[in-house]
Amino acid sequence: MKINNFCIANWKMNLDVDECLNFLKKFNSFKNVHAGTKVVICPSYTSIYPCVNHDNTFSLSWGSQDISNNFNGSYTGEVSLDMVEKLGCEYTIVGHSERRANFNETNDIVAEKFIKIYNSSLTPILCIGESLNDRNNGNFKNILTSQIDNILSKLSIIDKNIIIAYEPIWAIGTGVSADLKTISETHSLLKNIIKKYTLKNCNIWLLYGGSVNDDNAKSIISLENVDGFLIGGASLSPENFYKIYSSMGGL
Ligand code: PGA
Repeated sequence: MKINNFCIANWKMNLDVDECLNFLKKFNSFKNVHAGTKVVICPSYTSIYPCVNHDNTFSLSWGSQDISNNFNGSYTGEVSLDMVEKLGCEYTIVGHSERRANFNETNDIVAEKFIKIYNSSLTPILCIGESLNDRNNGNFKNILTSQIDNILSKLSIIDKNIIIAYEPIWAIGTGVSADLKTISETHSLLKNIIKKYTLKNCNIWLLYGGSVNDDNAKSIISLENVDGFLIGGASLSPENFYKIYSSMGGL
C-alpha cells in the first residue's frame, strides 16, 4: 500500500503503561478509514512493549523517540537501536529539538544516530527546526540547510525511505502553529534542499510539527509540500489524535 502521508504521535515523557493502554482501548474503537495515511505512535521506552503487544484492531506502527548513538555495552541509562527494533518498532525519531536543547545533541551526534538508523531496518524521523531568533533574523535558511546537509551529504545515494519533520522550535508546545504562509514557504525551501540528492526507489516525506491540533490540521495538510504531521500534545488524547488523522484522508 502506497503511503500518502504520515500521522505520527510523539508522546514524549507522557502516559505510563496503564494510560497508554487506556488510550489504545479508545483509539481501537475508531475506524481505520484512510488506507494511505500511516499512523505511527512513539511512546516512552517503557510503554513500547505493552503497546505493541496490545490487541490493536486499528492499523498502527510503532516508533521510539530516540536511540543511543552506541550499539551496546557500558552506557548506563541508554537504549540501543537493536532493543527497540526487537520490540517491534519500525521508526525512530532522531534529533528532536528537545534533545538538541536539553541533552546537548549537536548536528554531528544527530548525524551519527541518523546513519545508524538508516543502516538498520528502522525508518528515521529526522527533526529539524529553527529558533525564534533565527526565524526573525533570517538565519533560519542556513540553519535548516545545514541540519539537512550535514546528514544527507554523508549518503552517496539515498535508497531508503526517510521522514523529515520540520518543527519550528517557537511553535512546539505553544498552542499556536506556524502560519500557513510560513509553513508553505519553508516546506518548499526544504523540498528544494532535498532535490539536490539522488533518490533511488525510495521517498522522503516532509512532515510539519509544532502545535498541530484538530482545528488547524485540515488547512495545514492541504498545503502542497506537507506530507503529514508529527504531533505532541494533541496526540495524547485519542479523540483529538483521531480527529487529526480523520482530517488527512483522501490527500
Ligand atoms: P506539539 O509537539 O505538537 O506539542 O507542539 C510537537 C513535537 O514536539 O514533536
